[in-house]
Amino acid sequence: MATTLAKADGAETVEHAARIEHVSKSFAGPAGQQLVLDDITLDVAPGEFVTLLGASGCGKSTLLNLVAGLDDPSSGSITTDGRPALMFQEHALFPWLTAGKNIELALKLGGVPKSDRRERAERLLELVRLKGSYGKRVHELSGGMRQRVALARALAQDARLLLMDEPFAALDAITRDVLHDELTRIWKETGVSVLFVTHNVREAVRLAQRVILLSSRPGRVAREWTVGIPQPRRIEDAPVAELSLEITEVLRGEIRRHGQH
Ligand SMILES: Nc1ncnc2c1ncn2[C@@H]1O[C@H](COP(=O)(O)OP(=O)(O)OP(=O)(O)O)[C@@H](O)[C@H]1O
Ligand SMILES: [Mg+2]
Repeated sequence: MATTLAKADGAETVEHAARIEHVSKSFAGPAGQQLVLDDITLDVAPGEFVTLLGASGCGKSTLLNLVAGLDDPSSGSITTDGRPALMFQEHALFPWLTAGKNIELALKLGGVPKSDRRERAERLLELVRLKGSYGKRVHELSGGMRQRVALARALAQDARLLLMDEPFAALDAITRDVLHDELTRIWKETGVSVLFVTHNVREAVRLAQRVILLSSRPGRVAREWTVGIPQPRRIEDAPVAELSLEITEVLRGEIRRHGQH
């Protein structure tokens, strides 16, 4: 839960990892302005794991980019607790650098002194269970290993909020499953807040404390679910499957309502 702090002047400020208030976003299109996000309001509490779920094209990445500060909302406001770290479906690692040097670059940009970088990078690689891969080049790593390095690099930024845009979508089911376990462990170990975008209902339920369903055209918050299933969860656990079915039904309704296939 978010902590409410009473200020001396009586006004209240609420501490959040992210606070999205009445955010709308339009893009200029051939037929004029296209409303992509419509009046989105949601908070991510410190240490909370929230998944943002919705059909393709509903505006999930647009919203994440706004939270990351890569673009500005057309209206409404977004505040975050410090600058968030980002992780995408494509690892976006520099291929000419080793795994370790990719992480060290993020540390350098974060102002970590040169003398500390190597040790910090080694520790981060250990955290994502890639001990011994410091000197490996990107092409020597499997897809799952690359996403582990990308996660380590995101964590190197020491952000209090981690924004993840379908980071495991390109991986096979078994590798994805392993990375779900790793992410849950790392989230617990570090206490980082996570806003995780996916169109995979089971993945959303497997990972999150709260699932927020976005409708399409324009994207609005359609429903949200608090997921009380204890961790560790498995994607095939009965409660995960049951809640996923319920959410899928609502998602199907949303997609039918908007005439998408
Ligand atoms: N820079 C842009 N200029 C114009 N239109 C854009 C821009 N970025 C996104 N859009 C439009 O906004 C809508 C939402 O796109 P977005 O990428 O946010 O969807 P998404 O939910 O992330 O989809 P997916 O699940 O396929 O990744 C789409 O119709 C897209 O064409
Ligand atoms: Mg997207």
